[in-house]
Amino acid sequence: MITIKDKTFVPFIPADAIQDRIQELAKQINQEYADKQPLIVVVLNGAFLFAADLVKHLTIPCEITFIRVASYQATESSGQVKEILGLSESLEGRDLIVVEDIVDTGLTLRQVCAQLREKAPASLSIATLLFKPTALKEALDLRYVGFEIENRFVLGYGLDYDGLGRNTQDVFVLSEE
Ligand code: XMP
Ligand code: MG
Repeated sequence: MITIKDKTFVPFIPADAIQDRIQELAKQINQEYADKQPLIVVVLNGAFLFAADLVKHLTIPCEITFIRVASYQATESSGQVKEILGLSESLEGRDLIVVEDIVDTGLTLRQVCAQLREKAPASLSIATLLFKPTALKEALDLRYVGFEIENRFVLGYGLDYDGLGRNTQDVFVLSEE
C-alpha cells in the first residue's frame, strides 16, 4: 500500500507481470520490425520506465528519442490542444514507434500522432503499457498494449499522482475505500 497526500493506492500489477509482458511486446516488435530500423519516440514523463525496460529487449537496430507534450487551452472551445516539445530529428521516411504509459481517452495520443504524421514518417505504431478501453473517446490504433485495465486511476512505474509516485516497480490503483 502507498499513501500519497490524501490518497491511498493498493497493489494492482506486480513488477514481475509487467516485466514478463514487456518481454512479450519486445519479442513482437523484434519480429514485426526485423527488416526495419525504427525510431522509438518516448512520451515523457510517464513512459520513461516502460520505454527503458522495453528497449533493453529490442534486438533490432533502433534510435530512441524523447518528447514532451505540453497542453494549452485553445482560444476556441476545442478543449486542450497538445504541442510536441523536444523533437529535433527529421521523421521523414522513418518508422516510428510511439511509446506511452497509458491511453485513457486517447485524446492526447490522437493529437500527438496527427502532428507526427504531418512530418511524413513511413509508418507509425503505438506501444502503450496500459489501456483503459472503456475510457476511450476516439478510435486509436494501438498495436502494442501491455495491459487492458478498468477505468480507475493508476499510479507507479512511471505514472504519477501530482508528480509523486512514479518511482515504483509495481503499478498501484487508487483504493476504492
Ligand atoms: P488521454 O485521456 O489523453 O490521457 O488518453 C493520457 C494521459 O493522461 C494521464 N493519465 C493518467 N495518469 N494515472 C495516471 O497517473 C491514470 O490512471 C491516468 N489516466 C490518464 C497520463 O499522463 C496519460 O499520458
Ligand atoms: Mg503520459
